[in-house]
Amino acid sequence: MKQAEAQQRIEALIQALNHHNELYYQQHTPEISDYAFDQLMEELLQLEQKFPELKREDSPTQRVGGTITKEFPTVLHKHRMYSLDNTYNEEEVRQFDSRVVKLLGLEAITYYCELKYDGVALSLSYADGKLKLSATRGDGQQGDDITNNARTIRTIPLSIQPGPKLPTHFEVRGEVVMPISFFKQFNESRREAGEQLLANPRNTAAGTLKMQDSAIVAQRQLVFIAYGIILDNQELISHAEGLDLLRKMGFYVPDSGKKCQSLEEVTAYISLWESKRHSLDYETDGCVIKVDSLRLQEELGYTSKSPRWAIAYKYKAESSSTRLIDVKYQVGRTGAITPVAELKPVQLAGTTVKRASLHNANEIARLDLHEGDMVFVEKGGEIIPKITGVDTASRPLFAAKVMFPEHCPECNSTLVRAEGEAVHYCPNDATCPPQILGRIEHFISRKAMDIDSLGPETIRGLIDNGLVRDYADLYDLRYEEILNLQFQVLNENTGKTGRRSLKEKSAKKIIEAIAQSKEVPFERVLFALGIRHVGRTVALKIAQHCKDLQALKASTQEELEAIPEIGERIASSVCGFLEDPEKQQLLERLVAAGLQMKIQEEEKVRLSNALDGKKIVISGVFNQYSREELKALIEANGGENMGSLSSKTDYLVAGDNMGPAKRVKAESLNIPILSEEDFVQLLRAKQ
Ligand code: IVH
Repeated sequence: MKQAEAQQRIEALIQALNHHNELYYQQHTPEISDYAFDQLMEELLQLEQKFPELKREDSPTQRVGGTITKEFPTVLHKHRMYSLDNTYNEEEVRQFDSRVVKLLGLEAITYYCELKYDGVALSLSYADGKLKLSATRGDGQQGDDITNNARTIRTIPLSIQPGPKLPTHFEVRGEVVMPISFFKQFNESRREAGEQLLANPRNTAAGTLKMQDSAIVAQRQLVFIAYGIILDNQELISHAEGLDLLRKMGFYVPDSGKKCQSLEEVTAYISLWESKRHSLDYETDGCVIKVDSLRLQEELGYTSKSPRWAIAYKYKAESSSTRLIDVKYQVGRTGAITPVAELKPVQLAGTTVKRASLHNANEIARLDLHEGDMVFVEKGGEIIPKITGVDTASRPLFAAKVMFPEHCPECNSTLVRAEGEAVHYCPNDATCPPQILGRIEHFISRKAMDIDSLGPETIRGLIDNGLVRDYADLYDLRYEEILNLQFQVLNENTGKTGRRSLKEKSAKKIIEAIAQSKEVPFERVLFALGIRHVGRTVALKIAQHCKDLQALKASTQEELEAIPEIGERIASSVCGFLEDPEKQQLLERLVAAGLQMKIQEEEKVRLSNALDGKKIVISGVFNQYSREELKALIEANGGENMGSLSSKTDYLVAGDNMGPAKRVKAESLNIPILSEEDFVQLLRAKQ
């Protein structure tokens, strides 16, 4: 492809990608599939790689990430990032209104009410219509430059298409949030990889923005919600007008905001969204009430930390107080210790709360938790209830501090805590019972080896009867051994345990399911091994890269780190696993049992050998087939698709709109040019 042609195609691709991005994020009416979108992005990436001089600063490929930021430089905000004063009840909102009315000497004020998005504040600076800088709030005067990471967020336009009355130099203020749906899915994959669960979407979004590898940020589906614009020459009249302008420029501004002409309308807005906000896919912790007129905003000005023209109304997080009964320490399959507070049951947001996660030793210390404390539990939009504080006034006399144990509550091994990590681990992975059980449960789970006829109670029975110590033992089990196996069952209703024995039908099913699991593909076997930090996606990446266990075992840590998205932490965990003699033995037994240790290369459909060895270039648009279908047809008949014409090309298949340069080049190289019909004829004749 010539440079001029590439430039044309790049422009067209950028336009198409921006258009589809806007349809998806602004209008929520996508016209093409995610797959088709990724294909366009891939084509653009390849063209930019081939013609680096044509790569534009605002190319959508920037969204894929890939830059590494070692340190985030501190930058001074051109305009200070203020915070908001909070109110918690209607009376305080009324007082705010009275203050505004008095200061301005007016009778009634038009307010603009919008939601208070619970995320991370971000300031975006644009010059010449292009995104130049993105900074966190910091202390309000200066924040961190996280531009590389912000570029991966799809709702942040990298450039503004010039248009009538659209500014080119301006700052946008808004909040970066992590969708609740993504957060849940992300936490689920962390659970699968044996990692600590994250507390809430806000902290996860904040942590993500500070990650060094922007390629990882790109995958976290962060959303930027714009709530303000600062123009060099103030031409706007109202806040509402500013939001409309932002929408026009391609920013995402939710339509939940509303102009309110009276205090009554403001309070109605607050009550309406108190429950309605729970239907949104991002967290909100209140409303923001802003004086709509920008002239009046200027007149009111600012105090040392917040505007006099706006106030936040914070919804009460649903909270209760209850007694701490005990702290239990759960041991996960990777040995991670999670402290869990056992509470006197309390009603909260429609459910009975009996437990709350305490995360780690730091959290216990932060709360200064004592035995028998009265604690405050809260359930915001959050998934796991949390203890927000302790009522020290009602602390029992001489109550002892809750101390994080030094030994594993299950096997008594001395706990370890890696430098810089908050989590304690039990290092005894060989014999610590919950680790053994957890590993086998993970191994047989649906997304791993899918041996669904084995339940946790049966596994416990197998362990208690000395038949299974690790997951490789499953493949040695014989029908006669497990028939009549005695195991304990718990009656959920009475809390009592009883005994059962394994009947013929169940025993047969278990043996069959174990045998069947030998067909489970390599990437799932890799996930099933339960290597710390190796979730399903990571397992797939490693399997696709290494192709088989042999090659994986031969890989060095550096080689693994070179796989996209595999960092030092994951690579070192994989190498640690593979170098452990006990794990090596385990793997050998799995290989001997006949598990899949090689990736199944996709079988290519072969229709004929009609185009064997022929190098073919396709160009333009076709009627009968799409470009992808045509390419697949070439491969299915033994041909090879080439990106560009060369003396080695056998045929050029020309569709509509093929550039004249291509025709000239093909003719000069004496390459036969086929129309779509010619090509189909050729195939028919040769088949
Ligand atoms: S306006 C000058 N509007 O709340 C006032 N802030 O304490 C600028 N926030 O960190 C803020 N939603 O990032 C405004 N609709 C909204 C908001 C909002 C969330 C955050 C903001 C800031 C904090 C204020």
